[in-house]
Amino acid sequence: MTSAAITEISDEAAYTAAVQTALDAASAYYGDGTSTLDDDDYDRLVRGIAAYEAEHPELVRADSPTGKVAGGAVVGDVPHTVPMLSLDNVFGAEELATWAAGLERRLDGPVERWSVEPKLDGLAISARYVDGRLVQLVTRGDGTAGEDVSHGIGSVLGLPRELAEPVTVEIRGEILMTNAQFTDATEKRVAAGGTPFANPRSAAAGSLRAQDRPYSVEMTFFGYGALLLPGEAGFGAGTTGDLAERLPELAHSEVMALVESWGVQTTSGTPVAASTADALEAVQARVEQIAEARADLEFGIDGIVVKADNAADQRRAGFSSRAPRWAIAYKLPAAEKITKLVGVEWNVGRTGIIAPRAVLEPVEVDGVTITYATLHNAADIARRGLMLGDSVTVYRAGDVIPRVEAPVVQLRTGEETAIEIPEVCPRCGDAIDSSQERWRCVRGRACHAVASIRYAVGRDTLDIEGLGEKIIDQLVDAGHVTDFADLFTLEREQLLGLERMGETSTTNLLAAIEAAKAKPLNKVFCALGVRGTGRSMSRRIARHFATMDAIRAADAEAFTEVDGIGPEKAPVIVAELTDLAPLVDKLVAAGLTMTEPGALAPGTEEETEDEGPALPLAGMTVVVTGAMTGALAELSRNEMNELIERAGGKSSSSVSARTSLLVAGEKAGSKKAKAEGLGVPVATPEEFADRVRDLL
Ligand code: IVH
Repeated sequence: MTSAAITEISDEAAYTAAVQTALDAASAYYGDGTSTLDDDDYDRLVRGIAAYEAEHPELVRADSPTGKVAGGAVVGDVPHTVPMLSLDNVFGAEELATWAAGLERRLDGPVERWSVEPKLDGLAISARYVDGRLVQLVTRGDGTAGEDVSHGIGSVLGLPRELAEPVTVEIRGEILMTNAQFTDATEKRVAAGGTPFANPRSAAAGSLRAQDRPYSVEMTFFGYGALLLPGEAGFGAGTTGDLAERLPELAHSEVMALVESWGVQTTSGTPVAASTADALEAVQARVEQIAEARADLEFGIDGIVVKADNAADQRRAGFSSRAPRWAIAYKLPAAEKITKLVGVEWNVGRTGIIAPRAVLEPVEVDGVTITYATLHNAADIARRGLMLGDSVTVYRAGDVIPRVEAPVVQLRTGEETAIEIPEVCPRCGDAIDSSQERWRCVRGRACHAVASIRYAVGRDTLDIEGLGEKIIDQLVDAGHVTDFADLFTLEREQLLGLERMGETSTTNLLAAIEAAKAKPLNKVFCALGVRGTGRSMSRRIARHFATMDAIRAADAEAFTEVDGIGPEKAPVIVAELTDLAPLVDKLVAAGLTMTEPGALAPGTEEETEDEGPALPLAGMTVVVTGAMTGALAELSRNEMNELIERAGGKSSSSVSARTSLLVAGEKAGSKKAKAEGLGVPVATPEEFADRVRDLL
């Protein structure tokens, strides 16, 4: 992992310079949220400094960032009632186990229960409530004293001005911006003539400290702890009565439930909600779940925090000068890096959508080298204030398509230039329909007919063998086809007239085209390339409606009855089908199969399989990983998913507690480990083939 690397420091001068660089970066990071170093580079630098100090203890500088909260960068003038500490880090399952074993040695027995929660990537805040009213917000600062940012009260979602009960407490947690809040804040700031923030964390830090702006931006708070407020610190009588006695005795998870009951937001409503676990295996499984959920979250996390839940365990473990001994941050690989935006390409997709794509100086993020990233649309480029030649923050987590987040304006040289926005379709030169968020060539699918035909005849759709790209290009160029329905009316002579098409290949191709007419509805529907529907969604739609007529007659509401189609997607599908009506008419006329074998139209009696033997995977959610062997060796992943669905199951690509079975072939990796951690049954391809033998 890159985060384990360190910066080599060879002599004292380099050491002094490194300390200065780290201090500058830390004060920018904890100050206004800007930084010219990404997290990986900062970690590497501090690790290099620590390594040099270990070799030369006599040269350690007093201002060194090692061992200090916030790299020793910030001071504030509001003392904390109890220091706001850092967390120590581990970088994987093994290190976590070593840390847990050390803690249990210290406790002289097992940790009673663990709490596992996301490490929120924002800035730490202490929110002081007196008699249920929010009176003060203080940043972490150097951990002993922070800065008063009470002017932010009212613009932070999740931190109510008034609690449901008149308690006097200090809530600690993280202020951050969700992706939507970040986009909104950037747009307002750029519109007001300001420069964009590099990422949501910087934006939250900068916005929280800013005062007297002509616009207001919203932020989000998630609590992760609560403490008593002492009266002598100036908070009236301080925490009194029942709560003063109860709070120190409650387990962390109980404290958080209480905090939530007062009306403060915790992570409980999110896909990465804090949870408890009795054994370390379950902790590790939850860590993996949170890591996997990261890509789809609406807010940033940079790790998972594992805590001893029990108050007595925490008390006995105690604190080091920098961090509690009862908690650890399990760091995830940095999802964000800084690189250069060297170009913007405008591509036309098979549906005629014109999408800009960022060309980047290659950079490794989370183990993968990234050269391209999405930029959504022209408005997005303007909103983000991007320029060609900018240093930019690039985000990628798990399988998400990398995206350019923002320019790092501190790194601008003056050489940057404006990004050119096309005025006509970059493919055909026709006009651009920019009435929607996503721009489209006015010619729609016809603009890039080759791409949509290629998609329609591919292996997972109509599977027309012998119809390669070159032939499609020629057919389109010659004007023989404008969409894939035209393939079914091709004349033998038209094919013979193409380059390198002899008698035999022509005969074979015509036979393959003829055979495609017998494909079931789900393949025909998939071939249409309706936006928002892929292979498995097409299968669900075909099974649900049974005939093309029923699909065409369905309104948006009817589509929402299909598993996985929500109120947003349904109208898009309906509009797409209206758009595609002439093509569907041609397919009907050409005699393609417009029904789904085995499916019953909605409203028909016995919609469920009352009759006949129950399907072998009925009601099960099955995930496939690794290379298939034996009877399944030849099946593509899509064909495996089809098989699962034919057997009455649901296919999924990620393992969760709801997975009923994991089919793990050769070289199965993390999914298998995860399934085992969660107690999900695992089958070999051979065992699985046995279960579905009748359907093979
Ligand atoms: S508990 C005594 N829980 O991470 C310190 N911290 O690197 C207890 N953070 O300063 C902190 N999510 O700002 C805790 N679920 C979580 C957290 C979390 C983010 C931050 C916090 C802390 C920093 C340490």
